[in-house]
Amino acid sequence: MSSQSSEKTYFGLPSFWFHKPDNENDDVFYQQPRMVAHIDDATMAALTNFYRTFLPSGASILDLMSSWLSHLPADVEYARVAGHGMNAEELAANPQLSDWRVQNLNQNPELPFDDESFDRAMIVVSIQYLVQPIHVLRSVLRTLKPGGEIAIAMSHRLFPTKAIAAFQGMERDDKMKLVGYCLQQSGFDEITFHDESPLGADPLWIMTAKKPLA
Ligand SMILES: C[S@@+](CC[C@H](N)C(=O)[O-])C[C@H]1O[C@@H](n2cnc3c(N)ncnc32)[C@H](O)[C@@H]1O
Repeated sequence: MSSQSSEKTYFGLPSFWFHKPDNENDDVFYQQPRMVAHIDDATMAALTNFYRTFLPSGASILDLMSSWLSHLPADVEYARVAGHGMNAEELAANPQLSDWRVQNLNQNPELPFDDESFDRAMIVVSIQYLVQPIHVLRSVLRTLKPGGEIAIAMSHRLFPTKAIAAFQGMERDDKMKLVGYCLQQSGFDEITFHDESPLGADPLWIMTAKKPLA
């Protein structure tokens, strides 16, 4: 995508990359519960398998942009699994959450959790819906313990009217670069790409990053 020197920017990137085709308040679109899976069964299984190493047993976890599914291994115990999303009915139906909140991050990107509450945070097939991703990721950094980690899992499906322009027009590698840039601008380090895509199913691209110890 091209940029011009006179245009507005978001952390040095063209602001229009972060605009959505549909400017309607997200509260309207997400009012209706969607008890559906957003990626193939094999892709969900690959994510659950990835979580076996990414999420230590006994950890406190934040599942951001959550719904009725968190994809966690069913046989591992966690201290806390906090969910954060847009639809109360979906979150109430999620058996893996210990507590949950509803909040529109495009209206208020500051998370309603204490500093250093979580060991791990995840955003699954949803980062493309944030119009201020660096604001949200900075808030995630605040709520993670030092050394805590985030995983941002992505695939190729999206709600076209709700996704920001950058995710509509970019190929995989540019999307990963964009997410890596957002993580770096938010204060994360050890930013790493993992391709966990199963054969013959929706792709699974995961960016992980760590909150520095000091
Ligand atoms: C494609 S669904 C993915 C749900 C879940 N992570 C999963 O793996 O099935 C997109 C999710 O993004 C969340 N979301 C979209 N816009 C949001 C916003 N403005 N603020 C907070 N969450 C939002 C909604 O909660 C919705 O469930």
